[in-house]
Amino acid sequence: MAAMLSGKKILLGITGSIAAYKSLQILRDLKSMGADVQVVTTAAARRFVPPLTLQVFSGRPVFTDLFDPHEEVIHLTLADEADLILIAPATAHFIAKMATGLADDLLGNLLLAASAPILIAPAMDIGMWNHPSVTENVALLQKRGVQIIEPEVGPLASGKEGKGRLANEKTIVEKVVSLLASESKLAGEVVLVTAGPTQEPIDPVRFISNRSSGKMGYALARVAREWGARVILISGPTSLPTPPGVERIDVRTAEEMKKEVEARYSEATLVLMAAAVGDYRPEAVSSQKIKKGNAARSIRLQETEDILAGLRSRKGKKVIVGFAAETEALLENARKKLSGKGLDLIVANDVTQEGAGFDVDTNIAQLIDSKGRIVPLPKMLKEDLARYILNEAVGIKKGVS
Ligand code: CTP
Repeated sequence: MAAMLSGKKILLGITGSIAAYKSLQILRDLKSMGADVQVVTTAAARRFVPPLTLQVFSGRPVFTDLFDPHEEVIHLTLADEADLILIAPATAHFIAKMATGLADDLLGNLLLAASAPILIAPAMDIGMWNHPSVTENVALLQKRGVQIIEPEVGPLASGKEGKGRLANEKTIVEKVVSLLASESKLAGEVVLVTAGPTQEPIDPVRFISNRSSGKMGYALARVAREWGARVILISGPTSLPTPPGVERIDVRTAEEMKKEVEARYSEATLVLMAAAVGDYRPEAVSSQKIKKGNAARSIRLQETEDILAGLRSRKGKKVIVGFAAETEALLENARKKLSGKGLDLIVANDVTQEGAGFDVDTNIAQLIDSKGRIVPLPKMLKEDLARYILNEAVGIKKGVS
């Protein structure tokens, strides 16, 4: 246990909650595990924990001010150095600041500049925790890949009982350890991810597409990056932000996606095909906008090429993961795709189920490997499902190399 975090640089951000005194224990535990901890506080946090105490426990100066006279671009230096950023406790105010990207102090600035994983442990009164703005801000941060350690239920500083207490110090430290342990799970790997829908043009203003949002593929790209891989994300049109540190290539049609996948395929050691590639495209694209007044008009379609199936002959030691979004005979259809496309793993999901499939943040999936083993998973955030999928892929990778 002692040196579990040795060599790891953790930035501990403390914000102004009564629970801030608990950050002292967190700091001591992280230090006792060998971590190098740099503390940054907000101005309000200094009223709850004296900087001198934090300085003695961390063995480093404690920063609050963006305009520190000793360092010129301190927010950038601190952001670059950190392997992980932990904000504990995180107040409702600070969560709102993070959600809007406000940068009026050192902690706000460095969070914008950082590419390290961010973990926050909220603490506030029950009414505040249940307020819709806090709920929405937390959901937004989660969507961007910030990990939340939920507050606990218990007696609160206000005298009330309920959810809002800072999670137990031990729980917080364990989460830090598990995040940093998985941080290097994909070190040295090159992960190629396809995501989103494709669009097949009919004329200059119309196209055929599907309801894929790209969320699953983007979650895979983000987690793979967090786990230390170099990540190439080939994305159909989506409105999602590029995950930090990920190389993103934008495409529109199935043909463009195929071209980019084939061009980058040889670099990859792990391939995750989460894109909902259009199976059909119009045989001819009208160069002018098609005018109304021709109700009997029909559009002849032709099949696009299957990108995944085409990679089969170049598989080598790569681990290839495909997806099967089905509306009927889920396992049967998924198994057919697994063997037909020569995959190592397929993620099967019934898109007609509530909380699964397109444009929602959750998914309900079953993972099937080439030996026929099935792992049924409960409804979970796409981000968490990404971790399950990558974990399985890491296991398969160990078996083939
Ligand atoms: N896929 C692909 N190229 C295509 C179609 C699909 O690479 N032209 C990939 C998808 O990214 C996914 C897997 O193949 O990983 C299965 O996609 P899906 O659309 O479920 O299956 P299809 O083979 O297209 O079969 P169908 O649409 O008939 O169910």
